[in-house]
Amino acid sequence: MAEAFNDKNLPTEKAQRYAAVAAEIAAVLDGELNLTARMATVASMLAASFDHYFWTGFYVVDPDKREELVVGPYQGTLGCLRIAFGRGVCGTAARSRQTQIVQDIEAFPDHIACDSRSKSEIVVPVVDADGRLIAVFDVDAEATGAFDQLDADWLERILQDTFAD
Ligand code: SME
Repeated sequence: MAEAFNDKNLPTEKAQRYAAVAAEIAAVLDGELNLTARMATVASMLAASFDHYFWTGFYVVDPDKREELVVGPYQGTLGCLRIAFGRGVCGTAARSRQTQIVQDIEAFPDHIACDSRSKSEIVVPVVDADGRLIAVFDVDAEATGAFDQLDADWLERILQDTFAD
């Protein structure tokens, strides 16, 4: 695998790194249908590719609860276990089905702090081939302003390719 992306590199290099890891994820998961295996692989490969990823993982929709997320495969320090729809950045992404980019978590009133080192965050809804919300994908960074539209575009594409196609 290529060397991890460093924040100081140009945006083009970040795009190139996303393109490379997207292709690697597709190749590794070819023929694998198990959802946990697919989520674990996406979290692992993305976390290993970018230095600015501090916490990387999924909160999955709990089929036994009404509008509640439960932690799924992740890389990083201990994450909180359950998040209600509408709560925090993850619950906001789940309810709105819109990607959330939070440049400074201090400025997000309902942010749920799992690790005080997290300073900025991106959360992308994950839908299946039938358009059902199955999870959200959450990445936290130790720096403020670590995520931009390029991260959003590539993560949306990778998650769409992996879980909806
Ligand atoms: N900060 C998230 C909670 C999950 S942790 O960051 C791993 C939120 O506000 O939804």
